Amino acid sequence: MLNTLIICIFFVIRINAGVIPTSFNITEELDKISKDCLTNAEHHELTGNKYKGHLASFLDWNEIELSVYIIGNSEIRKALGFGPPGPWNNETFPSDERLNAASNLEEYFKLQTTSSVSFSARVHKITEKDFETAIRYLDKRLPGTRLIYRKKVEEFMRDHKTINRKMVDDLTDYIYEIFEKLRDATEEMRWNIRCRLKDRRDYITSYGIFSSLLEK
Ligand SMILES: *[C@@H]1O[C@H](CO)[C@@H](O)[C@H](O)[C@H]1NC(C)=O
Ligand SMILES: *[C@@H]1O[C@H](CO)[C@@H](O)[C@H](O)[C@H]1NC(C)=O
Repeated sequence: MLNTLIICIFFVIRINAGVIPTSFNITEELDKISKDCLTNAEHHELTGNKYKGHLASFLDWNEIELSVYIIGNSEIRKALGFGPPGPWNNETFPSDERLNAASNLEEYFKLQTTSSVSFSARVHKITEKDFETAIRYLDKRLPGTRLIYRKKVEEFMRDHKTINRKMVDDLTDYIYEIFEKLRDATEEMRWNIRCRLKDRRDYITSYGIFSSLLEK
């Protein structure tokens, strides 16, 4: 009994620490995400109710896409022992001089990876707090996203022991490819409006409009 309890606690701790199960299969996880479907209520939760009504699912796309990118960026940072990412609102495109003058790898990585997200965040008026809300929600709702990055980063780190600018660049490119796959899967999910139509149907029938048509 006590043994079972200890095993259970151990298991829970492992899951919480985000250890990747051995059966974890990236192709299958991507497929799972692409076939998933976020309801309107879930889109609202993702954006912290920033947008009203059905519009949320159309307007939150940039927020989802950038947050998916940031999750990958933070997994790289964790693996390299860098601090958390951000802020994402004020970085401009770095000149070669600024890159060359970076005093350490963390600063170099930040300069290389922050500016394009910063630019989009400014254009779409996405704040640090918006990102926090969206990432917290994605971690809860689509935990496979972070685990896919983590598995890829782990694989890369296993084969590349020397950490220098070249390695950081290669890792960034490698993870960008996974970001593109995740972005495509997430976009597919976004167009999978099956569950949103159901929302709409509930909404319409609750007002008794066309309800007899929809019952068929
Ligand atoms: C992952 O799943 C896909 C599709 O089910 C399969 O083709 C592939 O061999 C699996 N990969 C691994 C490493 O098990
Ligand atoms: C962005 O903000 C950080 C901290 O608030 C600051 O150190 C940095 O210089 C700022 N960058 C730009 C381009 O303004």
